[in-house]
Amino acid sequence: MHSTLISACLAAAIAVPARAKIPSCVTDSDLAILAGAHVVYSWPTTVQPPANLVQLVRNGVVGGVILFGENVGAGTADALASLQANYSSSPAGAVFQKYFRSNGPLFITTDQEGGQVRRIKSGGPTLTAKQIGASADPAAAGSTAGQQAAAALIGDNFNSNLAPVLDVYRQEKDFIDYFQRSYGNTSAVVSAAATAYIKAQQAAGIPATAKHFPGLGSATHQQDTDAAPVTLTLPLEEIRAIDEVPYNSAIAAGVDLVMASWAVYPAMDTVPSGLSSKWIRQELRTRLGFPGVTITDALEAGSLTPFGDLPTVSVMAAKAGMDMLLASQRNVTQGEVVRSALIDAVRSGEVEWTDFVASTKRILALRSRMQ
Ligand SMILES: *[C@@H]1O[C@H](CO)[C@@H](O)[C@H](O)[C@H]1NC(C)=O
Ligand SMILES: *[C@@H]1O[C@H](CO)[C@@H](O)[C@H](O)[C@H]1NC(C)=O
Ligand SMILES: *[C@@H]1O[C@H](CO)[C@@H](O)[C@H](O)[C@H]1NC(C)=O
Repeated sequence: MHSTLISACLAAAIAVPARAKIPSCVTDSDLAILAGAHVVYSWPTTVQPPANLVQLVRNGVVGGVILFGENVGAGTADALASLQANYSSSPAGAVFQKYFRSNGPLFITTDQEGGQVRRIKSGGPTLTAKQIGASADPAAAGSTAGQQAAAALIGDNFNSNLAPVLDVYRQEKDFIDYFQRSYGNTSAVVSAAATAYIKAQQAAGIPATAKHFPGLGSATHQQDTDAAPVTLTLPLEEIRAIDEVPYNSAIAAGVDLVMASWAVYPAMDTVPSGLSSKWIRQELRTRLGFPGVTITDALEAGSLTPFGDLPTVSVMAAKAGMDMLLASQRNVTQGEVVRSALIDAVRSGEVEWTDFVASTKRILALRSRMQ
């Protein structure tokens, strides 16, 4: 029987331990969708997604979308409901069922941190992370902020959040303190507020993202990874004793996603954390025991220019263990370039089939719990 043949092939295709190379039974159209699950797309200026993005979503090859301030307005809830409907009528669901007996909605996200850094201006949290950390009870204030973020996101049909920030700032007005995005200058305050935020937001059904691993708290005001290469030269002992501490409690609390930083930490590696297998596979997954989904920061970031062009850094990130790749240039073509690069790398074996399957499985395990 046809279905038995397909199952036997797929059983071999996703067997553990499986092979490095893609099995011949995986069709081009299936791979287009499986690779798409790894890519988060963005679009320019409007609330309505452009027709070419809607068509890609309708084809099932888009894994997620990120919206910025200019994409959020009165029509956002309807636009995202419509996009989600386009995704449900795509072939993606059948492909994920076939390979993983799993499925889930399109991943729709934004940066709803708090204070100035919140894309849904009509919703909370209005307090900055710094104000929350400085309050009499940072855990209680963090919990309220997590509930407010969830309510704002749910109201506009988002289903995830690229927050909270776990960076422990070092100096007043440094990179992460400047817009008050850090809960505080001690691991204890950041852990208390951020962990409470994560628990409250996730209890309301919105996956949270702990960022920017292993920490941007030591970056000076000028050290902006969006703009230019950033190297944070501090000892591994300090990174572990200060910056990584909030990750221990966030992971213990079951945080769904971790976003890696694009800074280089010479204490561990010569490439940015999000391109580094030492940081992602060894430190985050093995040493800290994070079982969830990893997501990159913006792939168009200026900090990546020394490491290669967009296809190159996309494949480096996937090889380092990054599950979702953030094409946030407000440019649909950028997402397509990232997806093609991943497809080529899986076909050539540069990204090992086994790793690709494990990574896709993590993404779907998360999405199957999402609304
Ligand atoms: C997307 O979904 C909306 C709402 O269901 C529908 O009106 C529209 O025709 C769909 N677009 C495509 C390209 O399928
Ligand atoms: C944190 O900031 C406060 C207020 O500026 C300061 O008194 C304290 O020494 C700082 N703590 C650390 C660990 O830097
Ligand atoms: C969109 O992304 C593509 C692929 O990276 C690039 O060639 C193009 O220049 C970008 N367009 C804009 C307007 O940035």
